[in-house]
Amino acid sequence: MPTVPLVDLSVQHAQIAEEVRAGFDEVLAAGDFIGGKAVTAFEQDYADFVGARACVGVGNGTDALEMALRAVGVCHGAEVVLPANTFIATAEAVLRAGARPVFVDVDDEALLIDPSAVEAALTERTAAVIGVDLYGQVAPFERLPTSLADRGILVVEDGAQSQGATRHGRSAGTFGTVAATSFYPGKNLGAYGDGGAVITDDEDIAQQVRLMGAHGSPAKYVHTTIGFNSRLDTLQAVVLQAKLGRLRRWNDERRAAAALYASLLAGAAGVRPPTTLPGNEHVWHLYVVRVPSRDEVLRSMQEDGVGAGVHYPVPVHLTPAMADVGHGPGDFPVSEAAAGEILSLPMFPGITRQQQERVVGSLLDAVRRHGG
Ligand SMILES: Cc1ncc(COP(=O)(O)O)c(C=O)c1O
Repeated sequence: MPTVPLVDLSVQHAQIAEEVRAGFDEVLAAGDFIGGKAVTAFEQDYADFVGARACVGVGNGTDALEMALRAVGVCHGAEVVLPANTFIATAEAVLRAGARPVFVDVDDEALLIDPSAVEAALTERTAAVIGVDLYGQVAPFERLPTSLADRGILVVEDGAQSQGATRHGRSAGTFGTVAATSFYPGKNLGAYGDGGAVITDDEDIAQQVRLMGAHGSPAKYVHTTIGFNSRLDTLQAVVLQAKLGRLRRWNDERRAAAALYASLLAGAAGVRPPTTLPGNEHVWHLYVVRVPSRDEVLRSMQEDGVGAGVHYPVPVHLTPAMADVGHGPGDFPVSEAAAGEILSLPMFPGITRQQQERVVGSLLDAVRRHGG
């Protein structure tokens, strides 16, 4: 039986290979390895794609989040509210900015931040709330407490997994004062290495991030603040530009694949399919089902040659790296229960019907054997 990987980037590469090679040749000829035309053009086009005023390319999504937080004033002693069901980078960025992560649980359907849990997590020290667009759909930002603005608490969007998604017609990347995204290779818009961006309508925030990412330097050897070395690599900008032109079509292919999974899994005992929140146009960065005996089901599928995965097996508040934040089992029951059940099925533009039938056959067989 042929194997099916969790993600196959070769299908996308085949479509852009020529354009990428030509773009690389231009960069090599110009010797423009840091910044340059390719980065500026991509930043402008990505801002236009999202419908935001500014996009600043940076080294990766984690730096993008940290710089976004710093740019809106998150600093030592502040608290930042975020969901417990996310990739560690969301919390890592908060800690690296000097602030304390204050986790809240997620809703049991979409596994996104539970807006009704946020009010109780706010204190005098809360500087920001991060909504994470996990798995490819936008978090319910409009249901966050209305008191946030009056209390001077800013909203930040972690849009690492939602490039091209919309909520009530509005694009991912425009839901907070500032948004961060990641161009890690497997993302819907993925580079051929690390990359990320900060997106905002606020020119002042964009300028601060630009300064921060370039050693706090507004001009050569003038340093007005301590910053980072975190810029979007020029060659990665070439790749991203080629992919951006195809992102809508590739997201449509993901949606078609998600619809096929839904029909193949309809009525299957022991498999809980993913939920899309009303108003969301999902871009299916990940297709996450929930099954009992997940670890056994996962192992069995992997042995069968199907590259299923788990995003993420340990909720952030329980990872050893977060021990100092002081949480224990039972603090966020929905996230903790989900972490033991979630299973990501292979999903990528170009996945074939045969591959999906093979995945579902393998899943149902594993659930029959282990899931009871
Ligand atoms: C939700 C989320 N936030 C942040 C990040 C961090 O991005 P990066 O890996 O580019 O640092 C990722 C990606 O891995 C992510 O999935």
